[in-house]
Amino acid sequence: MRQAAGPGAVGRDRVACYGARMTMPRIPRNQAEQLLSNLSRDLDLASPADILTAAHHHFGGAAAISFSGAEDVALLGLAQDAGLDFRVFCLDTGRLHSETYALLQACRERFANGLQVFFPQATAVEQLVSAKGFYSFRIDGHSECCGIRKVEPLRRALASAPAWITGQRRDQSPGTRAQVPVVQIDEAFSGDDGTVLIKFNPLARWSSSTVWKYIGAAQLPFNALHERGYVSIGCEPCTRPILPGQHEREGRWWWEEATRKECGLHASDRS
Ligand code: ADX
Ligand code: SF4
Repeated sequence: MRQAAGPGAVGRDRVACYGARMTMPRIPRNQAEQLLSNLSRDLDLASPADILTAAHHHFGGAAAISFSGAEDVALLGLAQDAGLDFRVFCLDTGRLHSETYALLQACRERFANGLQVFFPQATAVEQLVSAKGFYSFRIDGHSECCGIRKVEPLRRALASAPAWITGQRRDQSPGTRAQVPVVQIDEAFSGDDGTVLIKFNPLARWSSSTVWKYIGAAQLPFNALHERGYVSIGCEPCTRPILPGQHEREGRWWWEEATRKECGLHASDRS
């Protein structure tokens, strides 16, 4: 039987210690473009395990898995199955559900002992909340709060990474993710020094049901909120369960238009 992450679920079956701390310089743009063209050709129809293997082949443990939800648990499971050790990090916005912390802890114990956690800059949060209160995103949109709590910490998390790996799927958001490639240059988080950041999306072609079949078969931990109607899970005040027939993205920032339901982590998908 599947068991949501919680105090009773942690610490079981620890079989490997993930969370490599290697760093490696980013590659120059001209070299990256050639690599990307080869990888896109080879990986377009490849399995997630083969995509992870290619990421590891080129960037080793310096490629970083960005971890927060069910898709990312599947990535950790697939990496573990393939014996691949990646750096793993998560962004703690300070507004996550307690159930999400239970999942992060369960995965820290099971897979990623070296899980790196990035918090927002305290001064920026203090200024925002002091000036605009605790729910400013309901009044003037989520980009300012997401910029402080997610995007700036992500920029720091990726500063020493040549490549990152996300759990994005194409069917997660018809308006913004339908074209997510398996591998791309992340223009949003590449610097202006002539080098680029490579981004792998190994689950781009997987559906939600494929992810859940894998999690069930491999008996991986999952967020207990999924048992209460939540599908796509972000911060607590900006996430709610969905009704039958609603798309998963409708549970995020529900007061905003569908085309604005991105927080800036994946800005490169929209260019
Ligand atoms: S979001 O941009 O709307 O918040 P979503 O929840 O769909 O993203 O998750 C897509 C991918 O973004 C995840 O699979 C993960 O790789 C990354 N991600 C999202 N939130 C976080 C987080 N808090 N910490 C680390 N990675 C995250
Ligand atoms: Fe702020 Fe909501 Fe964005 Fe979280 S999802 S960073 S609470 S606006």
